Amino acid sequence: MMSHPSKNLSDSLTLPNGSTLINRIGKSAMSESLSDTYHNPTENLICLYRKFAEGQTGLIITGNVMVDYQSLERARNIVFGKYSDHNKLKEWAQVSQVNGVQAWVQVSHPGRQVAKHINKKPIAPSKVAAVKKLNAFAKPRALTIEEIQDIQKEFVEACVVAKDAGFKGVQLHAAHGYLISQFLSPLSNLRQDDWGGSVENRARFLIEIIRAVREKVGSSFSIGIKINSSDFKRGGFSEEDSLETMSLLDKELLDLIEISGGTYESSAMLEGNEKAKEKAFFIDFAERARGVTQVPLMVTGGFRNKKQMQEAIDSGCIDLIGLARPLAYDPFITKKILSSETEELPAPKVKVGKGLRGLGEAAWYTRQMYHHARGEGAKDNIKIVPCLLRHFTSDVIRAKTRKGRK
Ligand SMILES: Cc1cc2nc3c(=O)[nH]c(=O)nc-3n(C[C@H](O)[C@H](O)[C@H](O)COP(=O)(O)O)c2cc1C
Repeated sequence: MMSHPSKNLSDSLTLPNGSTLINRIGKSAMSESLSDTYHNPTENLICLYRKFAEGQTGLIITGNVMVDYQSLERARNIVFGKYSDHNKLKEWAQVSQVNGVQAWVQVSHPGRQVAKHINKKPIAPSKVAAVKKLNAFAKPRALTIEEIQDIQKEFVEACVVAKDAGFKGVQLHAAHGYLISQFLSPLSNLRQDDWGGSVENRARFLIEIIRAVREKVGSSFSIGIKINSSDFKRGGFSEEDSLETMSLLDKELLDLIEISGGTYESSAMLEGNEKAKEKAFFIDFAERARGVTQVPLMVTGGFRNKKQMQEAIDSGCIDLIGLARPLAYDPFITKKILSSETEELPAPKVKVGKGLRGLGEAAWYTRQMYHHARGEGAKDNIKIVPCLLRHFTSDVIRAKTRKGRK
């Protein structure tokens, strides 16, 4: 178990690479869809991150940034690659890192988990379609070994772009059913070569990326990952697989592991699992994870008041509390919690039918980020059905107007 000099939410946290986070609260990634047509940051994105940084959340992890212009998750994702506008990226890094706040870039590739209107020909470890019951996802083609290595290089290049822009670290997105997570899961990875089969083989894609990134960025730049405790799908990436993967990762030069769970097929990241009705999600799993890794742990999902957050830190298993929706609603909530201006995190009632809960909440909170990005405040009176419709129709329209790059 890590020994901490003290265990308050306001205490700093020193990471294995020697870098220090000013407090124990982290903003978890939230896809913003606020790029321009060339996938560079807009003024609205900059405005949003200025607020996140002023809110004094110790670690700000950006929404998922893609590594390939042809493989997007949404039509207006930021992409870090050869067409990046470096001045804009520098500005983004700068406004996000004031008064000791650090910002890390979440680096991701969607693989097969992408709607058809964005990508009709997705790629994946194997030819297995995502979310079969929704007919919204095209069946992917299995990657060749050469293509796997090319994508690994794209991850490394994107991390170097992040470092050059001035961000203090990166987080590799290995959770929620995107490409790295597809490699980890035995349901989406049926490969019989070195990238499939045992946990060690399924983790190879991720571990090789971590090593290659570390070689390029040096020892003081932070590298973290976000990983599922489980996919919550029978036969998928299980808690045992996750623990085995973490013990392999313990030998790598990693600075933070964020624990989450689920995929588009089971939105545990937003809803928790059966056991977590009353408390924040994945807490019990974090206790098990603490037993297999020395890397600092951030747990994200379901924190709704200061007491829960402090208790999680007091457990000694969790080093950093991850918040997403509360910060989308109020980017200044960390400051308010730390100064005891409030003990409660915002938890507005978003009325969504059971089957649509994950999608509905994602759309509703994305809309709240748009309000902040436009210099406005959160709005409670957003109805879920028009919000969902707008979320998808705007993405379809934007997919048509994006500038194809290769
Ligand atoms: C609008 C929205 C967008 C999200 N986008 C991402 C993302 O890009 N990457 C990611 O790892 N998780 C993403 N998530 C999941 C959050 O990071 C987090 O794991 C989840 O919301 C649970 O935390 P919370 O209960 O504090 O909201 C997103 C969540 C929301 C609400």
